[in-house]
Amino acid sequence: MSTFSLDDIALTHGTDKASDVHDFASRYDRYFCHLRDEEISLLELGIYQGASLKMWEDYFLKGKVFGFDIQIPRYDGEATLIQGNQSNLDDLADLVALTGQVDIIIDDGSHLHADQVTSFECLWEYVKSGGYYVIEDIHTSYGGGGIDLDYLYGLIDRVNNSEDQSGYGNEYSDIAELIFSKSLLIMKKI
Ligand SMILES: C[S@@+](CC[C@H](N)C(=O)[O-])C[C@H]1O[C@@H](n2cnc3c(N)ncnc32)[C@H](O)[C@@H]1O
Repeated sequence: MSTFSLDDIALTHGTDKASDVHDFASRYDRYFCHLRDEEISLLELGIYQGASLKMWEDYFLKGKVFGFDIQIPRYDGEATLIQGNQSNLDDLADLVALTGQVDIIIDDGSHLHADQVTSFECLWEYVKSGGYYVIEDIHTSYGGGGIDLDYLYGLIDRVNNSEDQSGYGNEYSDIAELIFSKSLLIMKKI
């Protein structure tokens, strides 16, 4: 295993997940370090120029990394890149047909409520047991068009209210943990 922290790797590749911008990498290290040496699969929605995909490749050396974006950049890494729109159910169906079940999904795509919800509701069932689904930049929920706080509060009800007055039926009863970290929502699956 490499001795470099995820933040060291993030700084090297210049992704805004590093400590000089959003500081997500050190928190991801905390939640994902037990998977670092495993043959995991990770899907990130939102590639941009591929800096974060390179970060994941260098962190999960035995892992398989997938990137999904409406626009595919020129990329010289190992990750598999898939073109599509995260709000389009057909594109998402094509995506999961390729990836199968994955250990980690990171939504760093459009940061728009409808897109984030469509992607989450479609992709949650493709997260493996014990895996994670992360929605990044939830500060955009405060006037920036990101995922509605009422939707998130509904998920809190879903996780914590076994009598189910949340209106979700049996949906999402397999969320084990809902972690609100600065600008990040991390959901762990039972
Ligand atoms: C913040 S950037 C991703 C940054 C990258 N994850 C990183 O950390 O280096 C957001 C990306 O989301 C993509 N995007 C925007 N709307 C999208 C949509 N509806 N479906 C898929 N990708 C989208 C954009 O093309 C852009 O590349």
